[in-house]
Amino acid sequence: MIFSSDNWAGASAPVSEALTRHASGLVPAYGNDPLTDAVTRRFSQIFERDVAVFFVATGTAANALALSAYARPGGVIFSHQSAHIQVDECGAPEYFTGGGKLRGLPGANGKIDPADLIRLMGEHPDGNPMHGQVSAVSISQATECGTVYRPDEIRALAEAAHARGIPLHMDGARFANAVAFLGLSPAEVTWKAGVDVLSFGATKNGCWCAEAVIFFNPDSALQFAYLRKRAGHLFSKSRFAAAQFEGYLADGHWLANAGHANAMARRLAQGLEAAGNRLAWPVEANEVFPVLSRATIARLRAAGALFYEWPADGVDPDQSAVRLVASFATDPADVDRFVAVAAG
Ligand SMILES: Cc1ncc(COP(=O)(O)O)c(C=O)c1O
Repeated sequence: MIFSSDNWAGASAPVSEALTRHASGLVPAYGNDPLTDAVTRRFSQIFERDVAVFFVATGTAANALALSAYARPGGVIFSHQSAHIQVDECGAPEYFTGGGKLRGLPGANGKIDPADLIRLMGEHPDGNPMHGQVSAVSISQATECGTVYRPDEIRALAEAAHARGIPLHMDGARFANAVAFLGLSPAEVTWKAGVDVLSFGATKNGCWCAEAVIFFNPDSALQFAYLRKRAGHLFSKSRFAAAQFEGYLADGHWLANAGHANAMARRLAQGLEAAGNRLAWPVEANEVFPVLSRATIARLRAAGALFYEWPADGVDPDQSAVRLVASFATDPADVDRFVAVAAG
């Protein structure tokens, strides 16, 4: 009953097999190998346009480097206050952007409201060095609350960002889960809705260590090779990052993995709700945030369940919200056992 995080799961079989398949032989280093080329073309196919693709090792690197591509002196980056870039990246976005300031917005269900965004960006008018200059808006898809932005919500935020001449960045650590939930094409939920740059996460959903920064307008990426190398994220054996993506993206495997994780989260949510537990946020991707009594939490822990307590509003002192994350490797029997123990 391990629901601590989706990155506790290992690599899925097609990914491991791809790594093994490409393990022997000599090919050029530093991304000049045919497989890196082929995977880049595959990304362009998946997104239905030519994209610039850069592999990096972690989601934090993807986010911080993507934002650094748009850095300005005194730059200000806007995101939800619970965003991973705000609370879980140890200042990497600030560091990589040369001192960029992060401003967090409140917002129901982990999402930013366009009116709030416009108001907050208004505190940083162009031409006033006292307040710095707007440099990017970042959203997480799926959000840190396990919810998913709809294309019209993304479009409204993109329009607000573009009206100020800045890009919309998407932290897609759980992009596959969001796409699987929406049932739309990757293009529809990114560039067609106004996203300029995407941190395409794959580690949580079946890869061993594979993340990519994807620029929908390759002209925006002209300096990025230097930013990535300077940050130490140019893999010399790039073929192994590429191999993981080859296995991950083949035959819809990435969406099948995400579909399973999402289904396991729904099953957890339905079971817990049926037993009378409230959920802090709607379950749309692969995360569930039930509000449980402390006695229930103790009973679950005693039965061996692993999960984290999580901050949420409106929780009584004798209760806590917890975060349960399902993955491609989640066993339905574990879900059912968790629900049964929670029910007492
Ligand atoms: C929303 C979100 N973004 C980005 C990341 C990437 O983090 P890491 O640097 O651990 O790969 C995570 C991982 O927990 C995440 O949940």
